[in-house]
Amino acid sequence: MDKSILCIGAGYVGGPTMAVIADKCPDYKVTVVDINKKRIEAWNSDNLPIYEPGLDEVVKRARGRNLFFSTDVAKGIKESGIIFVSVNTPTKTFGAGAGKASDLQYWEKTARDIIEHSQSDKIVIEKSTLPVRAAEAMSRILQSNTKGLNFDVLSNPEFLAEGTAISDLDNPDRILIGAMRTESGQKALKRIVDIYARWVSPEKIKTTNVWSSELSKLVSNAMLAQRISSVNSISAICEKTDADIEEVTGAVGMDSRIGAKFLRASIGFGGSCFKKDILNLVYLCEYYNLPEVAAYWEGVVNINEYQEKRFVKKIIEKMFNTISDKKIAIFGFAFKADTGDTRESPAIYICRWLMEERARLMIHDPKALENAKIDLKDIQGNIEYFEDPYEAVKGAHAIAVLTDWKNFKSYDYEKIYSLMEKPSFIFDGRNILDHKKLYSMGFNVFPLGKPEQTHLSERII
Ligand code: UDX
Ligand code: ADP
Repeated sequence: MDKSILCIGAGYVGGPTMAVIADKCPDYKVTVVDINKKRIEAWNSDNLPIYEPGLDEVVKRARGRNLFFSTDVAKGIKESGIIFVSVNTPTKTFGAGAGKASDLQYWEKTARDIIEHSQSDKIVIEKSTLPVRAAEAMSRILQSNTKGLNFDVLSNPEFLAEGTAISDLDNPDRILIGAMRTESGQKALKRIVDIYARWVSPEKIKTTNVWSSELSKLVSNAMLAQRISSVNSISAICEKTDADIEEVTGAVGMDSRIGAKFLRASIGFGGSCFKKDILNLVYLCEYYNLPEVAAYWEGVVNINEYQEKRFVKKIIEKMFNTISDKKIAIFGFAFKADTGDTRESPAIYICRWLMEERARLMIHDPKALENAKIDLKDIQGNIEYFEDPYEAVKGAHAIAVLTDWKNFKSYDYEKIYSLMEKPSFIFDGRNILDHKKLYSMGFNVFPLGKPEQTHLSERII
């Protein structure tokens, strides 16, 4: 029981995290359960439900040895002393706090499952991102059990980023574990620290009280997103002044107090965490009557939407103020490179706005086409999906680069140019292509936050 770990929720966080724990701790039995039967079947197959570099190898090493995927939640709870809760906590779409607060229904359901099926004391660990003091609610629900059982609720937020999940788990910047200051809370804390200490050095394991741990997760994501919104807001100034965003962030990032990472201008941040967590923070501020603080953080989300809209506006404006019936090849639909995930991807919003302008879209992405089809399924109009980039650009008036996939750089742009309508436009929403070279091939190039390189004005003169 002491060495039996259960994770409820086999998603982007639960699956990879538990696979790595099982891999690093062969003497622990790690079971991951989910109510989604299809997902569990996929975890037990050769075709894992999520794409993550290195994940296949880790799962293959541990699965069937000390890593198990199952739909039997009740059995998992009965047999495990340590339970990680990693279910989805999306933004509420109804009632009080709709659009901002977390929807805790899945999370609360797990608390009730734990009470119902437990026959012994448990350590329950929040892995999902939750509002501050959520552990208190979990604790109260669990302590209401009439079986005389003790539950210690800890917070251990996950900081992995998609696309680098396995290397982030292998070599994290820090492991954060928050526990209650009670004797039993501190004992539970030690047991969880011992698990991570198998492969993470002690100075990287930070222990705090539960509320600090919960808040730190929200603040980390909010501050990362804030950096991107800051840079993106400056990219708009660059386009007006002929300054170059990469030169600016290069210079600014050399200040060791600021640092060079996470300063890439883009069409906006996506992913399941940033927007959700900031809005969660905004809701908390409103709840605690801190309107100025709420407005400050909400600005980060507002700039993100502004940046997505600005990109679409530019496409329309530069293509002679109409994209109606024009073919636009979309390069990349995932919210970032090296993932098939499209949750909150800026591509969803950008494609929808382009369709409102009656464009025709040819979407190409190395991993995210299936999700893209789901995200855009309700849209009327002409949308096609292509594995092959050269098929996607046939007869296109423009290419819009929406994801920073590295392989986009190595495509044959001479060939692409020959397949496109003229004048041919490239809107590089990630600044990953060689703009000078594209310009010399004949493309009209519109990077983000950098001077445009176009043949159009030459013609007019
Ligand atoms: C994020 C956090 O990084 C991670 O710690 C947390 O656990 C979950 O949320 P993730 O959403 O997977 O991870 O990806 P991340 O690499 O942070 O990128 C988020 C978005 O920001 C992507 O759309 C990415 O393209 C964008 N981004 C990132 C930029 O636009 N510019 C940058 O400089 C960095
Ligand atoms: P994250 O990105 O936080 O991992 P996901 O949405 O990818 O979020 O995964 C959450 C998983 O939790 C989903 O697969 C969902 O089916 C599962 N889940 C939700 N509620 C429960 C529950 N009560 N019991 C078991 N699994 C659950």
